[in-house]
Amino acid sequence: MQASRVYSFPVMADWSKRLAGIKGLVLDISGVLYDSGGEGGGVPIPGSIEAVKKIKSSGLKLRFCTNETQATRDKFVEKLQRLGFDIVVDEVTAPAPAACRILKERNLRPHLLVHDDVIPEFADINKADPNCVVIGDAADNFSYKNLNDAFQVLIGLENPVLLSLGKGRYYKETDGLKLDVGVYMKALEYACDIQAEVVGKPAKMFFQSALTEMDIEPHQAL
Ligand SMILES: *[C@@H]1O[C@H](CO)[C@@H](O)[C@H](O)[C@H]1NC(C)=O
Ligand SMILES: *[C@@H]1O[C@H](CO)[C@@H](O)[C@H](O)[C@H]1NC(C)=O
Repeated sequence: MQASRVYSFPVMADWSKRLAGIKGLVLDISGVLYDSGGEGGGVPIPGSIEAVKKIKSSGLKLRFCTNETQATRDKFVEKLQRLGFDIVVDEVTAPAPAACRILKERNLRPHLLVHDDVIPEFADINKADPNCVVIGDAADNFSYKNLNDAFQVLIGLENPVLLSLGKGRYYKETDGLKLDVGVYMKALEYACDIQAEVVGKPAKMFFQSALTEMDIEPHQAL
């Protein structure tokens, strides 16, 4: 019986043809490297810690691309390190920092409907007299009041702008499936008859920023 081979990350030699011309890799995190939730904040998916190690020692460039918007990148990376992953903050592309770049570029002052733990990412953003709403995976902070406050800001604007950190329907945690930000984004879209701008997956711009950070072209990435 050689069953264990099936589950191991393929040795690079097997991949040499498929990897011809490939210089870098973009890896998802939640649901790919680990499942979130529970006591320690999640559990690694078997083989993923080793896979990250192998990719890093192969000399390929590596970027982690996440739509995680429940915590700052620092906190999120700390958790992944605790779970055993070889990962640092600079290797992670996440929606909140990308949204901050957009807010600054377009002089947007957000009303935040996000998880309390991700608010520090917006520390140096002007939030007075809001002219847009940023929505993220607020989890337990998606109360009627918080949603309605965001609605009132949007409906009061001449040009309502809604930036959404991802648009997932749901995701899996260790104790089951959880409603994701897209569901609440749709509620505000419906109420205000507007279309949100999605920052994060699956927006092309989001993946492009990960590639730019690795300094490689799309055809060189896996
Ligand atoms: C967000 O949820 C936490 C935990 O339930 C709560 O302590 C906090 O007051 C909430 N913040 C907002 C802005 O609703
Ligand atoms: C986050 O990514 C996962 C896997 O790529 C996807 O299933 C989920 O819908 C995404 N969530 C958001 C908020 O975009």
